[in-house]
Amino acid sequence: MSSTAPSDLRFVDFQAQRRRLGGRIEAAIASVLAHGRFILGPEVERLEQALADYARVRHAITCASGTDALLLILMARGIGPGDAVFVPGFTFAACAAAVALVGATPVLVDVEPASCNLAPASLGAAIAAVRQARRLTPRALLAVDLFGRPADYAALRPIARAHGLFVLQDAAQSFGARWRDEPVGGQGDAAATSFYPSKPFGAYGDGGAVLTDDDGLAEEVRLLRTHGERRPAACYEHIRIGLNSRLDTLQAAILLVKLGALDQEIARRGVLAARYDEALADRVEVPAPLAGGRSAWAQYTIRVQGRDRLAAALARRGIPTAVHYPRPLHRQPAFAHFPSAPDGLPVAETLARRVLSLPIHPDLEAADQIRIIAAVRDLVAKGA
Ligand SMILES: Cc1ncc(COP(=O)(O)O)c(C=O)c1O
Repeated sequence: MSSTAPSDLRFVDFQAQRRRLGGRIEAAIASVLAHGRFILGPEVERLEQALADYARVRHAITCASGTDALLLILMARGIGPGDAVFVPGFTFAACAAAVALVGATPVLVDVEPASCNLAPASLGAAIAAVRQARRLTPRALLAVDLFGRPADYAALRPIARAHGLFVLQDAAQSFGARWRDEPVGGQGDAAATSFYPSKPFGAYGDGGAVLTDDDGLAEEVRLLRTHGERRPAACYEHIRIGLNSRLDTLQAAILLVKLGALDQEIARRGVLAARYDEALADRVEVPAPLAGGRSAWAQYTIRVQGRDRLAAALARRGIPTAVHYPRPLHRQPAFAHFPSAPDGLPVAETLARRVLSLPIHPDLEAADQIRIIAAVRDLVAKGA
């Protein structure tokens, strides 16, 4: 297959994806247009069953975004003012925002240098500090599977159990990954995922889902996503204050097609990651190996000194990159006033200066990847 011209290289290539999936997406859209049940149509229910089966959980409840999935879980648990939720400081803003939006306090915790995921030692210290201060009640921890790599649930769950914390798994970047031999989504008490288009399991617009084995929590989330209206819907009796947070039927139809391709896409991302590892490990810091399980490879993120210079030089050669994330949450104007772990977040700060994500979408041609690798090697050698 022919590679693309340098200026055509995309960080995520939706056009190539559409060509690969053929007319199936168009057919799925046409069928929704034909039946016209745009809100909670039959595809939504089919997708929810398929997601629950895939993730091996009892319930999947779709909603309008990954942010809303986090919000709905926190609301359903009754987490609010006076409660502390422990959140990694190196992640997307939605994680701390959802906690703050329910009136609870996000307590920002450092991450592990190797995995970029929640650091158990920093978490333990943050819980102890909150307990000692007696101002907030520790209620939950939000474990993010950053870049598609499952968090360290073997270490996090015993800490949560010891302190009676609810484990909210943020699988926005990891749906399709595996923790040991389990599909991602069932490692906590409930999980939130996102269907934002560039995610490993992305739609063609916004969307999200809650995954859980807890029947009561699932029922509460279903109520809350439709303004707390007693079910069956359209009775106009509201028994909770909720949201309008439904996944469009059109997006559900698209996701049903894409679910059939997900494992193949993640396998392809894994091949690309292995090639990057092999070709770059002597020049830059590559992602640490994951023993057991598999990453969904939402991002392939290297670490380099002089990251901004390298990104700019790559851009001049037509190679797109991205920085996830240039500022840790405790350094963000919106979140800087929230409490942090007692020893600060030095790992998150170093990562924010050094991380650089390279293209890893499943339609990246081998020749294009070889060109990316050659450019990174060349520029790093020249100290660009
Ligand atoms: C880790 C993480 N959590 C939550 C979200 C929020 O998802 P959404 O953009 O669908 O609201 C994202 C999306 O970028 C994310 O990466």
